Amino acid sequence: MLAGRRIVLGVSGGIAAYKAVEVCRRLVDAGAFVSPVMTKDAERFIGKVTLSALASEKVRTSMWDEAEPIPHTKLGQGADVVVVAPATARVLGAYAAGLSYDLLTSTLLATRAPVVVCPAMHTEMWEHPAVQENIATLRRRGVHVVDPEVGRLAGGDEGAGRLADPAVIVAAVERVLATGHDFAGVRVLVTAGGTREPIDPVRFIGNRSSGKQGYAFAEVAHQRGAHVTLITTVDRAVTAGIAVERVETAADMEAAVARHSNEADVIVMAAAVADFRPKAAADVKIKKGEGVPEVVLEPTPDILAGLAERKRHGQVLVGFAAETVDVRANAADKLARKRLDLIVANDVSAPGAGFEHDTNSVVVLAADGTEQNVPLTDKRQVASVVLDAVAARLPRRPG
Ligand code: CTP
Repeated sequence: MLAGRRIVLGVSGGIAAYKAVEVCRRLVDAGAFVSPVMTKDAERFIGKVTLSALASEKVRTSMWDEAEPIPHTKLGQGADVVVVAPATARVLGAYAAGLSYDLLTSTLLATRAPVVVCPAMHTEMWEHPAVQENIATLRRRGVHVVDPEVGRLAGGDEGAGRLADPAVIVAAVERVLATGHDFAGVRVLVTAGGTREPIDPVRFIGNRSSGKQGYAFAEVAHQRGAHVTLITTVDRAVTAGIAVERVETAADMEAAVARHSNEADVIVMAAAVADFRPKAAADVKIKKGEGVPEVVLEPTPDILAGLAERKRHGQVLVGFAAETVDVRANAADKLARKRLDLIVANDVSAPGAGFEHDTNSVVVLAADGTEQNVPLTDKRQVASVVLDAVAARLPRRPG
């Protein structure tokens, strides 16, 4: 897995920098091309020459090397993975805030490769809310965090914050590279958010969907190498490289999906599409003085059922079942009725799950009868598990 892979090893300034030497040695022994990048403070703990003796590539410490203009973009673009071990509170904070002040922080912003950070610091710093919030922000963005261990720290202190063992770090890098690009060349269409069906120019029928789960699918699929098109009713920050189409109603969404569905290898219908809409939206605002209006509803088209009818051979269709009772049974029924490959059953009334939360707990049911329980976790993790199931169902591609 590591042989021939290009790894940028960022080393920042903490006592654990000496362990980066061991991480470097293990990666090189496994056949990786390792380019160390040391911060100024790292050089106070270990010498550049120590890493130079072990690394397969040049050790860099500065943005300002005349022989190599703009090294951060070169390093960032050429990397299969960037690992920061140890990652200090300062580097984590800069990365979370999008700041670049040296070669390492610039490389972190200039890369699209997966990033693994291995924090190491004193327990008080590790547990500080600012550091924990930065870690949560990075996790949400898809950065892989190798949690520090509990143990002996600098100055004889004990507690959480000790850099993970080099073997654990190398195993994490291997894992990231293994799932890294399994969607390379795969076209994934994702819908996100709840549709809004107008009653008049100022009012609509909507639902509580925040779009977070759909965006998590788009981000994780993109990170795993897919070409992603995201059709969404909500505006959330999204990584450049994901094609976004903004829609409002079920009819808009149906039209946008129809434009892309033919070429998509995978379709994830995470959007909460209204089942009914006002038959005729008023052209002007309905006034209170005119009495209580009667809003007559009509059904919207079932986008997913339509996709199933036109499904191409090898295309993988993923639906969602947002339920409040009989979750598994209702989802299994939808899976069969809409002729899907996978359905993500979501008890939206469970604590911490469903609409608006950052976390979710789901059961993934497959047409072949298999099922997988995903207990309460980050929505990106839910997306990862579902995409693993999708990957297993994609037709084998040459190479
Ligand atoms: N869906 C769709 N078009 C609709 C309604 C739903 O494509 N008009 C999709 C959703 O994106 C989701 C799946 O169908 O992936 C299930 O949606 P849900 O509303 O839970 O199912 P319904 O078919 O509406 O069934 P019910 O009303 O019985 O819950």
